[in-house]
Amino acid sequence: MLRSFFIALSTNKSFRSFSEQSSLGRKVSQRFVAGMTVEQAIAATRQINAEGIAVTLDSLGESVTEVAQAEASAAVYHRLLDEIAAKDLNANVSVKLTQVGMDIGDELAERIVGEMVQHAAQIGSFVRIDMEGSPYTERTIAMTEHLNARFPGAVGTVMQAYLYRTEADIERLLAQGIRIRLCKGAYKEPAEIAFPAKPDVDANYVKLMKRCATSGVFCGLATHDEAIIDQMRAFVAQTGLDKKAFEFQMLYGVRRDLQRKLAREGFGVRVYVPFGPEWYPYFMRRLAERPANVLFLAKNFFKS
Ligand code: FDA
Repeated sequence: MLRSFFIALSTNKSFRSFSEQSSLGRKVSQRFVAGMTVEQAIAATRQINAEGIAVTLDSLGESVTEVAQAEASAAVYHRLLDEIAAKDLNANVSVKLTQVGMDIGDELAERIVGEMVQHAAQIGSFVRIDMEGSPYTERTIAMTEHLNARFPGAVGTVMQAYLYRTEADIERLLAQGIRIRLCKGAYKEPAEIAFPAKPDVDANYVKLMKRCATSGVFCGLATHDEAIIDQMRAFVAQTGLDKKAFEFQMLYGVRRDLQRKLAREGFGVRVYVPFGPEWYPYFMRRLAERPANVLFLAKNFFKS
């Protein structure tokens, strides 16, 4: 119930504009967002890198409806890639296709994200195309394939274990050597296309994570689920799989203790660092994932 409520709230325009403009909103968003500016995001990246943990930077934004907004988002990403190269950061970038104009047209989004992938390829970095709701699944996969054919190894995408189609999609991407981030999935999807029960999503995740990690293609296992992470640890111990054949990925502000522990154990760990004034839909999806986060929000409300 709460999950559906917060996912619905994530698309509410009035509450979004009220929250993004209020100082209280900005304050509570700090729980999951590394700041409002590129400088703040780079400072957070340096701190995380100093602990032996890699970063993927996300300049928050999605569902843009004007070409100028899409171009402005891209400009921030080009700046991030310049900073990554100039400061030799252990970081790459993550972007949503609706942030670079996919709702306006696929051609526009492919041109803009293509320029980003080209830039990343030039500096030896990488662009991860985040996965959004199911209306975008096939188009996101197809665009990743086109771009990987042009800039091999410089682009990858995200697979969501809650979708029935994901197992086949993973085989399709691995056959082309395309890097995958495996997550459970953060959007509301109908039972016709997605497992409605969490235990089924978790079981599919475990099956698919083993497939990704042993594929020979470098994949990211994005989860904070400690039981699943324990299963991966046991799998590595049993099979002798190289701890660096894959990486764990977690969100900024979530399970920092576990991020550090895994890095100390010799696993690759990458933290997803989102920043920027358009934090609202991202933040609401994080509340949907864990009702306890709402208590955190409430505590801050009464403190201020
Ligand atoms: P699950 O939801 O089962 O949570 C397991 C445990 O983790 C919880 O009990 C809690 O302790 C902790 N936890 C989880 N979420 C938390 C939160 N928000 N705050 C505090 N604790 C939390 N989705 C998508 O659809 N497209 C995408 O591109 C991405 N990209 C992405 C990148 C990275 C690096 C991560 C980690 C996640 C994503 N996701 C995503 C989100 C993903 O689909 C999923 O919604 C969340 O990761 C929550 O699922 P868990 O696997 O953590 O497990």
